Amino acid sequence: MKGILFENPNQVKKELLSFGVHINYKLNKMKIVTIVGARPQFIKCSPVSKEIRKDHDEVLVHTGQHYDYEMSKLFFEELGIPKPDYNLDVGSGPQGKQTGEMLIKIEKVLLEEKPDFVLVYGDTNSTLAGALAATKLHIKVGHVEAGLRSFDTSMPEEINRVLTDRASSVLFAPTQTAVENLQNEGITNGVYRTGDVMYDALLHNVTIAETSAILETLEIKPKKYFLATIHRQSNTDNAKNLSHILEAFSHVEEKVIFPVHPRTQKFIKTYGLEEKIKDNVSLVKPVGYIDFLWLEKNAKKILTDSGGIQKEAYLLKIPCITLRENTEWIETVEDKWNVLVGADKEKIIDAAKSFTPPQKQSNHFGDGKASDKIKKVLDGFQKM
Ligand code: UD1
Ligand code: UDP
Repeated sequence: MKGILFENPNQVKKELLSFGVHINYKLNKMKIVTIVGARPQFIKCSPVSKEIRKDHDEVLVHTGQHYDYEMSKLFFEELGIPKPDYNLDVGSGPQGKQTGEMLIKIEKVLLEEKPDFVLVYGDTNSTLAGALAATKLHIKVGHVEAGLRSFDTSMPEEINRVLTDRASSVLFAPTQTAVENLQNEGITNGVYRTGDVMYDALLHNVTIAETSAILETLEIKPKKYFLATIHRQSNTDNAKNLSHILEAFSHVEEKVIFPVHPRTQKFIKTYGLEEKIKDNVSLVKPVGYIDFLWLEKNAKKILTDSGGIQKEAYLLKIPCITLRENTEWIETVEDKWNVLVGADKEKIIDAAKSFTPPQKQSNHFGDGKASDKIKKVLDGFQKM
């Protein structure tokens, strides 16, 4: 069973019992430092933290990469994530400065806490800094969402993914493609295909989302609007691409609800693109996860360059138009529920009009119990 090897002491105990050997031992709790810092990481850690806190001590570290209320604290409040034990207040900055400051501050925390394990999520600068700080101190690193690849090294996230996987001793792969990507890089030890923790979060919260009043607040009707998000560096830090995307949104026949990421807000202003935004496009502040799930579920189509949103669109069966040339969630494209259009104005307008997925979908993202599987793998590292 390559890539799905369980090292749980309870399994060892069972094996020994089958030989008539009785052992008495008490498993020691582990101290696990979880490092998060950006919006999707709060969502990803929420189901996993709940699981690991059942039997272990978790120390939660927030790097401070995201700090606006609606990019950070809102998620802790609505998902019931415990208050971080440390907030490193690193804030925004160029790649090297931001990652470097995180590295210095995370190292300090790890030297003080001396954990058995460090858990990192996804592909942000907070992920890489956490993995690097831990591995240099010979602390085991678990990477949740390991093995994802866009094969586009111009993305800071791709560098973060590759290096974090290298630095990790336990790799929690969400999909079979992720397992194969790791195999192709010679990484086969410590790889566990667990499914996707974002699916766990979605299943848990999608019924809660039925209580959301966001459609009434924005005065929109189910299936009568498009939902849009953009924040990828290649789309925001490039005046031509950002301009083409905003022009395309203005050509969509329906209303476009556009919760604007602060990075995008900043560049719309910097490039003076406000006049590209026509009346059918409603710019709103980023919304909480519960409201966002409800907006996704009721959207006619989704326009996005987000990783997590491509997947959520697939899981909620909403056609997704991805404003990128590539994706690490390739299964959604292969199943024809997601189409890659880059920042090409005509392609975006065309897909908004005519992109129609088939009925059929496959199950790529697990069974919604990835967090439980991750916790069980971690249990296997407990000392007897
Ligand atoms: C980061 C991640 C990206 C992830 C995204 C999730 C990296 C390299 N990028 O991108 O992988 O998909 O988070 O949303 O780690 N800003 C604010 N307030 C905030 C946060 C950011 O105003 O609370 C503004 C700042 O001007 C900042 C800019 O947004 O410079 C970009 O923030 P940053 O965290 O560097 O990258 P993201 O684009 O958010
Ligand atoms: N999301 C949210 N409010 C918003 C936009 C997104 O709660 O206004 C959620 C969305 O449901 C998904 C996650 O944020 O779970 C995706 O994060 P983001 O797009 O910032 O990052 P990426 O997934 O691209 O790394």
